Amino acid sequence: MAVLDLVLYPDDALRISCRPVEAITDEVRKLVEDMVETMYDAPGVGLAAPQVGSDLRITVIDCSVPEDPANLWVLINPTILERSGSIIWEEGCLSIPGVYMEVRRAERVVVKAMNLKGETYEIEADGLEAVCLQHEIDHLNGVLFLDHLSRLKHRMALKTYKRTLPAWIEERAEKLKKKGQEPAPPRSEP
Ligand code: NI
Repeated sequence: MAVLDLVLYPDDALRISCRPVEAITDEVRKLVEDMVETMYDAPGVGLAAPQVGSDLRITVIDCSVPEDPANLWVLINPTILERSGSIIWEEGCLSIPGVYMEVRRAERVVVKAMNLKGETYEIEADGLEAVCLQHEIDHLNGVLFLDHLSRLKHRMALKTYKRTLPAWIEERAEKLKKKGQEPAPPRSEP
């Protein structure tokens, strides 16, 4: 397992519409393993494939605190079947580190996805889990939580991002070096 490099905003790779996974291959299994490792390492509660440079419709989520791999969801080709209610939650994103803003989402969702065994399953979730599912599935369509903000809040978020990013990059590079990994330089400047 490896901690993968995170694709950072405003990289174009975050804006693609991902393609469905057609078969659970060794390549897919390896990608999921590495995504899980990367999410727990960050640490984060969710990670979507475009955030590690893949164009497949895959996301991993674990909203449990402290993290508990028993609560890990691997969602392949997820779709939201139902949304209801409304909730405001403070969100962050591993591709936009250092920025936390309130976003309005559906309070409850029903999601259908496939697991690594190729079985289809459904999740009914509310609160943080519902927010996280919507945030991660957005990623697979090239949508970021910034896109849900008002113009003013969006501008504030980018200001914070530009201010805090250099320190974050340095910190992460040090952390990866301690694990014996060489971090890649960021692919784009904010
Ligand atoms: Ni995100």
